[in-house]
Amino acid sequence: MEYLLGLDIGTSAVKALLLSTKGDVVGSFTTEYPFFTPRPGWSEQNPEDMWQATVEAIRGVLKKFNVQGEAILGIGLSGQMHSSVFLDEQKNVIRPAILWNDVRTSAECRYIEDKVGGQVLLEEVCNPVLEGFTLPKLVWLRNHEPENFAKVRYLVLPKDYVRFRLTGNLQMEVSDAAGMLMMNVREQIWSEPVLRALDLSSEILPPIVQSGEVAGQISSAVAEATGLRIGTPVVGGGADNACGAVGSGVVKPGRGMVSLGTSGVLLAHLAEPRLITHGTVHMFNSCIPNQFYMMGVMLSAGLSLSWVRRQLGLESESYDALTQRAATAPPGSRGLVFLPYLTGERTPHGDANARGTFVGLSATHGQAELLRSVLEGVAFALCDSVELLRSAGWEGTAIRALGGGAKSALWKEIIASATGLALEEINVDEGPGLGAAILAGVGAGVYKDVVEASDSIISVTKVVEPNPEWRQTYQELYGVYKDLYPALKPAYDRLVAFS
Ligand code: XUL
Repeated sequence: MEYLLGLDIGTSAVKALLLSTKGDVVGSFTTEYPFFTPRPGWSEQNPEDMWQATVEAIRGVLKKFNVQGEAILGIGLSGQMHSSVFLDEQKNVIRPAILWNDVRTSAECRYIEDKVGGQVLLEEVCNPVLEGFTLPKLVWLRNHEPENFAKVRYLVLPKDYVRFRLTGNLQMEVSDAAGMLMMNVREQIWSEPVLRALDLSSEILPPIVQSGEVAGQISSAVAEATGLRIGTPVVGGGADNACGAVGSGVVKPGRGMVSLGTSGVLLAHLAEPRLITHGTVHMFNSCIPNQFYMMGVMLSAGLSLSWVRRQLGLESESYDALTQRAATAPPGSRGLVFLPYLTGERTPHGDANARGTFVGLSATHGQAELLRSVLEGVAFALCDSVELLRSAGWEGTAIRALGGGAKSALWKEIIASATGLALEEINVDEGPGLGAAILAGVGAGVYKDVVEASDSIISVTKVVEPNPEWRQTYQELYGVYKDLYPALKPAYDRLVAFS
């Protein structure tokens, strides 16, 4: 038997996934690592931890499934987007990576908008300037740690750093490069107009490679450390959301997905780029050459549920039991609405100051209402993204549901009813790791292309339709939800001083 290996370099762990060349997911092995919050709103991680966890995860998956390195035909990587790995002349890490969910860069975002200008940003990088993206982190380093900035010779993202450690080649893969805000998304070249306006040099940005392209081979030292074969091809791979799309069959126009992890993502595949001027919708390159996707990202989806579970003292309760408890409250949670802005919000507000809020609390509300309103608040936040994608021309009627949160039947029914979209369950929910393994198969010549591979492996198994009664309640309640953020915005801004 022969295999493909997908490595997902996530925010809390590396997951190594084995896919047989017949298209069966054999299984995976996960190695966790910490992230640090040195100050409120900051989020950092050591690239060396990512690397050590990668080595462990590769050894772990080979051992667990008793597979020899010789049987691996190709390796693909997927990774958390936007997180900055700063390297010096010797390609050593200068400081901890600043992660995608770090919001320290608000002042730098305003500076970039001012210096580069809205029109150039839209035409070149096709995206709004948001705290989580990579460019503001580089400008922050220049402003706040000039001694570290002076040492920066290369800037890459986590999975591209890990690929460098695997192969010795330093490159940036295109779907992740798009999230740096330094690449011309349509032409796939580093954007001189943006970099020049900020007095930055494109020399710190490595060459761009395609997702399914072989970008290097496993070196002898790595072969020794991991059990892989020397010379095993390693492809470019993709951003976790782009790989999640490949790993769930979202590879054709009209198809979309919702991913309920720590963050929540609503993504639609596009054959053509769109210049979207409103509401912090992201538009990035997909893992299919010259194709794209647009997406809305909410920062606290699963995070909101795990937060409320902890605060209610229900940590010993499984998520199943938790959602059963939520199901005892009626749709609309007896007039309780939750705004899921626990860590600020990206889409649609682009506001690091926004905060989680319960509105309508009464003495009659209990745990069930609190839990259900959190599930509903996340669904309303996704409705905001659906509206934005619709206004950018998306006409889809169904989305594939992935991630930990998608295991809950109740949450899927709430999201289907709130958005009016059918939620599709698929035969494999391995997400980005599977997408990365499929890309490895394209590079190794096992598959003709990404679309053929993805469609041959992934299929829809069940569809959760909107519940007509709930839909009516949610349509009314969404109207209330939408009025709340503008009303609360002045309070959020004033509360920052007290945090
Ligand atoms: C996307 C984003 C997150 C991370 C999570 O723009 O910031 O979804 O990719 O890993």
